[in-house]
Amino acid sequence: MEKNIDKALIINGSPHRNGNTSYITKKIKEKLNCQVEEIYPYFDKISPCIDCHYCQKNEGCHLKDDMEKIYRDDYDLLILASPVHFYNLTPPMLSVVTRLNMIWCNKHFLGLEKTYHEKEGILVLTGGGTGEPKYAIEMAMKVFKYLNAKFDINKDYIYSLKTDTISVLEDKNLTVMIKKRIKRIK
Ligand SMILES: Cc1cc2nc3c(=O)[nH]c(=O)nc-3n(C[C@H](O)[C@H](O)[C@H](O)COP(=O)(O)O)c2cc1C
Repeated sequence: MEKNIDKALIINGSPHRNGNTSYITKKIKEKLNCQVEEIYPYFDKISPCIDCHYCQKNEGCHLKDDMEKIYRDDYDLLILASPVHFYNLTPPMLSVVTRLNMIWCNKHFLGLEKTYHEKEGILVLTGGGTGEPKYAIEMAMKVFKYLNAKFDINKDYIYSLKTDTISVLEDKNLTVMIKKRIKRIK
């Protein structure tokens, strides 16, 4: 048992509401004993950063969309979930990443350092092939860092790779990984 989680935010970057990635987030959700909010960057509205320079001169972001649910910082567990697309997170997930530039610009140009409260992080990746999704992991780690989520690749990474040949439904390792990680929250 690590600490109480009142709210989890899941950012699900899959283009499929009922695909492999969502299968895993559903399994995690079933085991979570807290409020859960989900964002689907493919279906919700999160624009990429348009480099309007607003955050170089003003606090916050000029764009008002579902990214506000992420900036709001009212969650204790951040779950980033994505299929691997071309070794990386999916493009709408990368839009989310670009919007974190506001945090960097507010600090760099204005000396404003909003402190995001410490939270836990979990990364969920699915991939059809056998390749190590190292760019996806690196990108997710940046998100965890900017939003102050603790993330340990050896404990907080849940994945199902080779989904082209082994269905997530038959991935026995997956069940073990979910159980092990959730046990630390409950
Ligand atoms: C455009 C595209 C690129 C992909 N690139 C990779 C890749 O680099 N590595 C990999 O293992 N799988 C890759 N895949 C396969 C998906 O990651 C895999 O099918 C995943 O399980 C789909 O999850 P979903 O059902 O949640 O969409 C790619 C799929 C698409 C559509």
